[in-house]
Amino acid sequence: MSAHSTPVPSASRPSGPLQGAVRVPGDKSMSHRALIFGLLSVGETHVTGLLEGDDVLATAAAARALGADVVRTGEGAWTVRGVGVGGLASPAETLDFGNAGTGSRLMMGVVAGHPVTATFDGDASLRKRPMRRIIDPLLKMGARVVAEAEGGRCPLTLEGARETVPVVYETPVASAQIKSAVLLAGLNAPGRTTVIEREASRDHTERMLRHFGATVEVEPWGEHGRKITLTGQPELAGSDIAIPADPSSAAFPLVAALIVPGSGITLEGVMMNPLRTGLFTTLREMGADIEAINQTSEGGEDVATLRVRASALKGVDVPAERAPSMIDEYPVLAVAAAFAEGETRMRGLSELRVKESDRLAAIADGLTAAGVVNRIEGDDLIVTGGAGRVRGGGVAATHLDHRIAMSFLVLGLAASEGMRIDDAAMIATSFPAFTPLMRSLGADIAMDGG
Ligand code: S3P
Repeated sequence: MSAHSTPVPSASRPSGPLQGAVRVPGDKSMSHRALIFGLLSVGETHVTGLLEGDDVLATAAAARALGADVVRTGEGAWTVRGVGVGGLASPAETLDFGNAGTGSRLMMGVVAGHPVTATFDGDASLRKRPMRRIIDPLLKMGARVVAEAEGGRCPLTLEGARETVPVVYETPVASAQIKSAVLLAGLNAPGRTTVIEREASRDHTERMLRHFGATVEVEPWGEHGRKITLTGQPELAGSDIAIPADPSSAAFPLVAALIVPGSGITLEGVMMNPLRTGLFTTLREMGADIEAINQTSEGGEDVATLRVRASALKGVDVPAERAPSMIDEYPVLAVAAAFAEGETRMRGLSELRVKESDRLAAIADGLTAAGVVNRIEGDDLIVTGGAGRVRGGGVAATHLDHRIAMSFLVLGLAASEGMRIDDAAMIATSFPAFTPLMRSLGADIAMDGG
């Protein structure tokens, strides 16, 4: 299991107007997938804009352990020489995914479809996360669990199928990780593998499958869902892929600019896949001044530059159906809601309980520490905003969760007493340059006491 990093207590203080233009790092979901598809392709894959955060580096190491040649050729530039679908080797060592739920779960799908055996492990946060939701469909496809920790958790040893069985699988919750694990296993199955989801989740796997040469059919399913069918055993060909800036990382400077009076910032090259932009929709409903300019496409995804200005926000009701398109953004939305006028109700957040931490509890506790009135009703979070005035001054417990850490540092930039967090170390999993980037915009963030 990963060594426990030493906690880095950090603090943010009320800051003057944030100003400047920045590009946040590459999208995490696409970065994991680019390396995985590189592994499963024949020939060379050239990736630019790769997120060089700990989560993605763990996936790069796992791709190497499974037989790929993975080389860094420059900043964010990586070359992967793959083994092709069917060509995986059993890794000699445990695959240590650190904090990375996505990397571990997607790679479980890859391993499940191949006649190899691998052990998956990670840090204390990953060891708490449920893996049965991934393993259940993979067992139907012919994989076997050789060993697992209590409750179907890591460390977990998975023996892949000798002959992978194509399945039709309806995901029990809207989850791109479950969908992707099944599709990745289905790559090495003869025939067609189908995943049905009642609420559409992010579709980077489907887009990248096509980009690397697989045949994928996507049909609408019910009101908000999709039916995705992959034809197995394609020959995937190494490809070039440019990864746009991660909208989930852009969310932090964006909300900071909205709540720090007088701010005006520009966020360059942000991915605008409609299955990822629920936060922008919600913030605009709250009255946020966010302008999308220079709309283009990069790596098969829509991309835009966002101009953001400080705004007087008002509370809104966020429908449960929107959750899949902003599932990682609720911590920072809750911060925006703390500064809005009136109540914001965020509905249908049960999935937040099984993220890097129990995010529902971590958000509520952090808000309480900051003096923000909030309550949880069933799976809903209700935040009573202070109409621009938040006391702050407490310490948010981050529970090895990067997004909780960044969200409460953002809160402190506009709270009268600032805010402290117990540990900023996990920010390196998704946004290693968070602190210098925020400081370059004028944010007062430093190690506690620094
Ligand atoms: C991801 C899917 C989401 C998200 C995670 C990244 C992905 O998880 O929370 O950060 O890249 O597929 P779920 O699929 O469990 O909702």
